[in-house]
Amino acid sequence: MIDYKLARSRYDEKTGLFVPNGDNGGAFAAFSPAYLVSNEDLRSAMNMLQPHGADVLTVAGSGDQPIFYKLYGANNVDTFDISYVAKVMMDVKTVAIQKLNNGQYRQMLNGINTARGIADVPEYKTIQSICPVDSQEFIHKMHGVEYYLRGGLWSDSAPFASEYDVLKKSVNGNFNFIWTDLDNLAGRLNKKYDQMYLSNILQYGCSVRRVSRIANDLADCLKPRGQIMLQVSPYFIWDELRVYEQLGRAVSKWANVRMVQSKTHCMCVLRKL
Ligand SMILES: C[S@@+](CC[C@H](N)C(=O)[O-])C[C@H]1O[C@@H](n2cnc3c(N)ncnc32)[C@H](O)[C@@H]1O
Repeated sequence: MIDYKLARSRYDEKTGLFVPNGDNGGAFAAFSPAYLVSNEDLRSAMNMLQPHGADVLTVAGSGDQPIFYKLYGANNVDTFDISYVAKVMMDVKTVAIQKLNNGQYRQMLNGINTARGIADVPEYKTIQSICPVDSQEFIHKMHGVEYYLRGGLWSDSAPFASEYDVLKKSVNGNFNFIWTDLDNLAGRLNKKYDQMYLSNILQYGCSVRRVSRIANDLADCLKPRGQIMLQVSPYFIWDELRVYEQLGRAVSKWANVRMVQSKTHCMCVLRKL
């Protein structure tokens, strides 16, 4: 059950903007604004990851991460995020994929990008009754605060028409969501995965100690030869790179670590032996 008084108190009353509050260094927290669309090149990432048939755990983010995993043939996809808003954004998108055509889906994103809240968007109004009740309630009760980030909406931010046809067949329910920060994720898991996608999280508070603890904790929930995409970024910079380079020793009993680089990504991939 969400405490909406508490959730709204995370936003400045006058501006409606999120006020970093100290949880997890401030920027990301229980009600921090979700991204409307991913700022990652998920097509390129999925081409590298080849998740066909894989059981996956991914950060929910904008909701695009699990959606693109399904697009590229993942079997079951579970999600987690420190922010509850990521779940709401993900639920709206998954329900929309099942009920709207591609033009309406894009129109909905466009509307969300310009409206004051999802509740005002005509395409959302047509699907709200089939949206999970807790997400419907969030959208209703948080109206008037900026609980998602606008901007960055380009034509390739949303699935193309041919991709949408695939999603219509493969996204047939809401994704399981675990509301947790990454540091406590392992304790909330009760099954094993082929891939864990922890994209764009570990650059905040990146130390060998923290990263190796998180990786070692998650190891039990990885299938043999399973992979953890410990970090995905447009580029790694000094501290992160040094941390990932030192990680091999910390996880050498059960995994090897490799750095994968392409034009759009740096990935630190940990593969179970
Ligand atoms: C850093 S943001 C960047 C946006 C992301 N690249 C996308 O495409 O949506 C990634 C996501 O990680 C979540 N996040 C950040 N720190 C986290 C943490 N410590 N534990 C769990 N989730 C976290 C944020 O709430 C956000 O949804």
